[in-house]
Amino acid sequence: MTARPKVIVTRRIPAPCEEEARRRFDAVLNPQDTALTPEQLKTALRDADGLLPTVTDKITADVLSATPRRARIIANFGVGFNNIDIAAAKAQGVTVTNTPDVLTDDTADLAMTLLLMAARRAGEGERHVRTRAWTGWRPTHMLGARVSGKTLGLIGFGRIAKAVARRAHHGFGMRVLYADPFPPKPEEAKALGAEQRPTPEDVLREADFVSLHCPATPETRHLINAERLRLMRREAFLINTARGDVVDEAALVAALQAGTIAGAGLDVYEAEPTVSPALLTLENVVLLPHLGSATLETRVAMGMRAIENLSLFFAGQPVRDRVV
Ligand code: 8YV
Repeated sequence: MTARPKVIVTRRIPAPCEEEARRRFDAVLNPQDTALTPEQLKTALRDADGLLPTVTDKITADVLSATPRRARIIANFGVGFNNIDIAAAKAQGVTVTNTPDVLTDDTADLAMTLLLMAARRAGEGERHVRTRAWTGWRPTHMLGARVSGKTLGLIGFGRIAKAVARRAHHGFGMRVLYADPFPPKPEEAKALGAEQRPTPEDVLREADFVSLHCPATPETRHLINAERLRLMRREAFLINTARGDVVDEAALVAALQAGTIAGAGLDVYEAEPTVSPALLTLENVVLLPHLGSATLETRVAMGMRAIENLSLFFAGQPVRDRVV
């Protein structure tokens, strides 16, 4: 019997996935669930045939330079792969896969959660009740912004943005605008009630809610900067379930403090898990700890998808979700 491929799973993953990984591979699990250091990641690449990392593992060019490297595949647990230096992986001939599709609906649900919470002051309201500050109902208490029928602007129009558009348009009667350098077929956008705008700037000027759905790349780093935040309406809200790097967090703090935008809903941050201290003091921002895909169903599906990619690779077949 040939030896089973050795796979290092860098964090705890849902139990059914850990069991499946054990069944298929010589799997090294991480019951303590502590993030690996760069040195430990290098050792992992030297020791195992494959790695199953997450967003908290920074697989840099330096990490990938570990020699002699045994691992030939990195099956990322996540659709985003900005934690991996893709150019370096490609140069080293390391296959990288991700987990698209399975998290689309849950991430779209979370974008809508943030949008609704920010508009209707739900985080602030919860704090109000929990701190026993509530003195009773009154007609002018904690008035928020209406969501139904408003204009939603999507920056990026991939799978998750389309799922948000579907919810917003068909569920909340919203007008939907989008900007994307790779737009879909007009019929597809039409079915979601979405109208294309030539640039992100055009979307920012018109939208009551701006939701970010582009990948984190050198080109999208600080796409939402001070200048672009100034294009947004005073009544508008910014929602980010994509990646923290897409927003200049300091510029966002300034805009929220000055009231040049109405509020924000954030699931991701520039230096996770550190959050700009000023954000913690502001009432007009809703803050979540990177929960976009955090349902049991989706996290199991993500783990199984990563395992499927590993299995296909070790069987010498084309992987399902090749990044490089
Ligand atoms: C994950 C995500 O929780 O898939 C992504 O890109 O941001 C989240 O769904 C995270 O990446 C886990 O590695």
